[in-house]
Amino acid sequence: MSKIISVFVAIIAIAMITVLYTPIIPDFEVHRCPFCYGRDFCPNKQVSLRMSSFKDIINNLISVKNVYTTTNGLVLKKLGHTKDLNTMDFLICVFHRSHVMEPCEFQDVDLHRTNYTQALHYNMKTNHYNGFRVCGRNVDDSIDILIRRILKPDGGKDVMNVINLWVISIINGEPLFYKAFDAQHFSLPIYYGACGRLIAVEDCGQNLNEYEDYNWLSRARIARSIIGLALKFTSGDDDFRIYLTDVSPDNIVVNKTTLIAKFVDFGNILIVRKSNVSSVHHSDHYPNAVEHIYSEENVCQSSISDHNIYSICRFIISSSAPWPMMKGGLLHSIPIKISEENPQLEQLITNCVQPNEEMDSGDRFAAIFKLDNALKDILGMHPIDTSNLQLG
Ligand SMILES: Nc1ncnc2c1ncn2[C@@H]1O[C@H](COP(=O)(O)OP(=O)(O)OP(=O)(O)O)[C@@H](O)[C@H]1O
Ligand SMILES: [Mg+2]
Repeated sequence: MSKIISVFVAIIAIAMITVLYTPIIPDFEVHRCPFCYGRDFCPNKQVSLRMSSFKDIINNLISVKNVYTTTNGLVLKKLGHTKDLNTMDFLICVFHRSHVMEPCEFQDVDLHRTNYTQALHYNMKTNHYNGFRVCGRNVDDSIDILIRRILKPDGGKDVMNVINLWVISIINGEPLFYKAFDAQHFSLPIYYGACGRLIAVEDCGQNLNEYEDYNWLSRARIARSIIGLALKFTSGDDDFRIYLTDVSPDNIVVNKTTLIAKFVDFGNILIVRKSNVSSVHHSDHYPNAVEHIYSEENVCQSSISDHNIYSICRFIISSSAPWPMMKGGLLHSIPIKISEENPQLEQLITNCVQPNEEMDSGDRFAAIFKLDNALKDILGMHPIDTSNLQLG
């Protein structure tokens, strides 16, 4: 019996060593082009998946989300779960009235008979709820502005590029967002490009919930970073407001050394053209809801909405944040000393979820500025010991 166990253990060990030391090369599916995401990042040398920890092995070998990490600091994304990608292929075939449905190979597709720009406009306008949608006034004009921003670096009207954009708009508009908005200005993951059916972005760190046990000051710094992003997305572009419609701890990652937070999932956003007509939209607060309940049309028709602020305060920062956020929200367990020095702090966090008539005239923008200023003052008074970020 013990001999059988030893043989079994040896086989498992050999399998593990083989997995760890055999470079695993992701399948870019370049043969899917032109119905792919592009070819501007097809690596000239092999890219192998990172297998340096148990978490890497699980994530990269059984990646339900089709997101992979590589040995050279990249995150590769297929932009959809396998069933979504199969549905997309089916739609591409139906769209081109291809006879070959199973498997859909796009062999008999005539690229020149289709107006991909028109089809791209249609997708960007009609992705209601949980998609990538452009809305608001002059929507076709807005889409043209975005397409110009996206295609400009690649030299204009390249039919292949428009096909790529159209394919992306079916599955997940995230790369369109990365190409249309400035990475540095909006603190986005760097977008390196696409190869076949994978895009490559910068690996920006670990999921927010992994910071649950970090000391309060470190979490306050992360909170300020998230507040900064919510305000930037709302007001930081000359032409558009960007509203995030899937704010959850899974979609925010944080760099372990700098504590800079970044949103990493832009498959669900509303892009609304800025307008001079003043119509401010205030998000309604539903205390028992486990997700953000809002009217997409109201956000789209407003000149500015506090949608992003409500999302981060309610679902990330405050104690009303539900699962999957860490218990008590990001600013849980305020140290007694800091509470004593800042007796209003708890109230300021609550006001950001539900603004107080007396303190903020019911205005969530006023509430979040006060909270941000309070956190800034606290961090100024209590510098973080960078050698000891974790222990509180
Ligand atoms: N740039 C990045 N840096 C570090 N980690 C990332 C990055 N992009 C994605 N991830 C990790 O991969 C996970 C899945 O990515 P993403 O949220 O984009 O996929 P998804 O398919 O939208 O998942 P879901 O639809 O379930 O939200 C994230 O929760 C995060 O842990
Ligand atoms: Mg996600």
